[in-house]
Amino acid sequence: MKAIGLYRYLPIEDPESLIDREIETPVPGAHQLLVRVKAIAVNPVDVKTRGRKAQAESTPRILGWDVAGIVEAVGPDCALFRPGDAVYYAGDWLHPGAYSELHLVDERIVGRKPDRLNFAEAAALPLTTITAWEGLFDRLLIAQQADKNRGKSILIINAAGGVGSIATQLAYWAGLTVIGTASRPASMQWAREHGADYIIDHRQSLALQLQQSGYPTIDSILCLKNVAQHWDKMVEVITPQGKICLIDDVSSPPDTSLLHAKSLTLAFENIFTRPNYQTADVLTHHYILSKVAELVDAGVIQSTLTERLSPITASTLRQAHAKVETGKMIGKLVLEQFPD
Ligand SMILES: NC(=O)c1ccc[n+]([C@@H]2O[C@H](COP(=O)([O-])OP(=O)(O)OC[C@H]3O[C@@H](n4cnc5c(N)ncnc54)[C@H](OP(=O)(O)O)[C@@H]3O)[C@@H](O)[C@H]2O)c1
Repeated sequence: MKAIGLYRYLPIEDPESLIDREIETPVPGAHQLLVRVKAIAVNPVDVKTRGRKAQAESTPRILGWDVAGIVEAVGPDCALFRPGDAVYYAGDWLHPGAYSELHLVDERIVGRKPDRLNFAEAAALPLTTITAWEGLFDRLLIAQQADKNRGKSILIINAAGGVGSIATQLAYWAGLTVIGTASRPASMQWAREHGADYIIDHRQSLALQLQQSGYPTIDSILCLKNVAQHWDKMVEVITPQGKICLIDDVSSPPDTSLLHAKSLTLAFENIFTRPNYQTADVLTHHYILSKVAELVDAGVIQSTLTERLSPITASTLRQAHAKVETGKMIGKLVLEQFPD
């Protein structure tokens, strides 16, 4: 089968940074689905994993953690899906990534594709949706009932990127007042259209802009970018006993002593924790994706797809990585259809 992989970790301008290969088609084990990949999204994690390092691979390393496709075959212990089912999922680090015509995934972290979306629209969602859902509801412990959240506010830092575009929608659905950050007219407009009640600029003073918006303090903060830049300001604007959730890499640990005076709670979200550690609640990803498929089909949640490339080859994937690397994505970039 066709696959796109890497042997060396090179700048994306290098034609060898991602290359086309033919590899063996895998056979599904106990709980595994073999999925025919129709569309994939590229995320910052793909770009970071491909980042420059001296290490070299003896077999092609395959990246890719956002898929929509059709189940081709199932392992002997599968109970949730059958061949022919349309599915979407993010996957894990226990299997190779999804830049391949056929892909193995544990069925317990897979959801049925929303009927209302085509494969490209569906592939835009899984990784960012699970991250946003876990961040909001499992880490910040926000209730999933709008009537319990009336009068409560959340600040979503980086509201127009991949995760922010779905986090704003989910927070709005949960009944919170959503203040999102973005710094360009296009990203501000996108975040406003995807659930943010107010937009402020993450390159200006957060405290001053929040005061001007009528929300001088905030109950919860979901920080989706540049923790070091925003740390002191988050502590300044959060309400006493509030909660902060970080998803981005924390290269130098933030000063947690600042949390003490206000009795703040700090949480971390990593989408791969449940599948990578095979936690007892690993089925949660299946439930999240199934619930979000219902919300999409009910017209409550929209796909975050903004850009499409086709077909899926090393060349189009290099273009996609270059675009995501700019750090200026609005919504999600998706590639669809392998060449014949
Ligand atoms: N822990 C996890 O499980 C997990 C899961 C998914 C993603 N992540 C990480 O979370 C981060 C965000 O992911 P993503 O997919 O949403 O990224 P993304 O789509 O690449 O984010 C792009 C957006 O970042 C905004 N941005 C740029 N500089 C910023 C700053 N200093 N402060 C706030 N926003 C800024 C830009 O908005 P403007 O152009 O308007 O400035 C742009 O629209 C990445 O580092 C990713 O690796 C972690």
